[in-house]
This record gives sequence, C-alpha cells and structure tokens, in this order.
Amino acid sequence: MKIIGVNGSLSANSKTFKGIKAILDTAQKQGAEVQMYDLREKPLPMYSPDDSYELTDQNVREFRQLLLEADGIVLGSPEYHGSMSGVFKNAMDWVSSEQFIDKPVALVSAAGGPTSMTTLTSMQVMIRNLYGWVVPTLGSIPGQTQFDKDGSFVEEGMRKRFNLMGEELVNMAELLKGKRAVKKG
Ligand SMILES: Cc1cc2nc3c(=O)[nH]c(=O)nc-3n(C[C@H](O)[C@H](O)[C@H](O)COP(=O)(O)O)c2cc1C
Repeated sequence: MKIIGVNGSLSANSKTFKGIKAILDTAQKQGAEVQMYDLREKPLPMYSPDDSYELTDQNVREFRQLLLEADGIVLGSPEYHGSMSGVFKNAMDWVSSEQFIDKPVALVSAAGGPTSMTTLTSMQVMIRNLYGWVVPTLGSIPGQTQFDKDGSFVEEGMRKRFNLMGEELVNMAELLKGKRAVKKG
C-alpha cells in the first residue's frame, strides 16, 4: 500500500509539514510505503489549460503519476486568508478525479490563529469534487501548537489525533482498494 503526502507550504519550518509527517509516520508503522512530494524541491509551473506541461514538464508528470499510483493521500495546506495557499491550489489544479476517485484523503492545515476549519472545509469540498473520500478526523493545527526538536507534537491530544488520522487513512485505503479492484473488473 502506497501513501503520498503533499504540503502546500513552502516554509522551511512548516507546521503543516509536521502534521503531514505525523500521519505518514503512523501509516508507515502500519506497513504502508510512504513518500512526500516536496513542492520546494520540485515546484510545479502555474497551471494553464492552454499549456501542455503535463507532456513536457518532468515535475508535473512525476506529481500526477505519484498521486495516480497512491492508495491513500495526505494533503496539507497552510491557512492563508481563511483558505488554501496558492501553492497548494495550483498543485491541485494539475490533477483530476483520475488521481483521487475512491481513494482516502487525510487533510491537514496549520493556522496562525486558534483553528484552520475554514481551510479544512474548503479542502473537503475540493476532495468531494474529485470523488475522493475524506477520512473522518481533520488535522487542524492551531497557531499555539508546540513541537519538539524532532518536529513531533508535544501535546498528547495532538499526537493521538494525528495517529488516529494515520490509522483511519490506512484502514480506509484497504477498504477502498478492494472497491477500485472490483470496479476495474
Ligand atoms: C499570506 C498569509 C495569510 C495568512 N492568513 C491566515 C489566516 O487567515 N488565518 C490564520 O489563522 N492564520 C493565517 N496566516 C498564518 C499561517 O496560517 C501560519 O503561519 C501557519 O503556521 C502557516 O502554515 P505553515 O507553518 O505550514 O507554513 C497567514 C499567513 C500568511 C503568510
């Protein structure tokens, strides 16, 4: 089982990244093969329907292929102006329901304020439009969240929440893998 993470923050000290990593670590402990697509190292061009970067741009091709092969996906965006970052939304403009149909998706968003629920709500709507299945627990990271030097959550409640998201993702990936196999015939 393959799980791919994508972070829509380019910050070197991204809290969103740390949340995604916590979920990927749990999935890995459950036997999944995990990988992060790093938009800082492999940026994607601005999407335009008139360009054919999907044929010529190596990063676009790799990004689309990785998500296509994934059994589960962890998506993270920082909360910018109450919604998703431009970097994150641009990355999502490069994919379609082909990459998301009948796959579980765990959502993470770090905010400067007390909650990132408006961003997580927008992300849920986006995944529904791509025919993906959002895992029940949402990964809101409030501005006051503390991390240790390894980038792990200090607070027990946050650790448990993000572990649970990893477990939900792997469990749903197992169920939905069967559903995709039946569909293919
Ligand atoms: C352009 C911009 C807009 C932001 N808008 C909000 C906002 O609407 N609400 C909020 O709580 N925090 C806001 N923040 C703070 C970020 O959400 C916060 O710094 C968060 O940690 C960013 O995620 P990251 O650590 O993964 O980069 C904003 C930050 C920037 C740079």
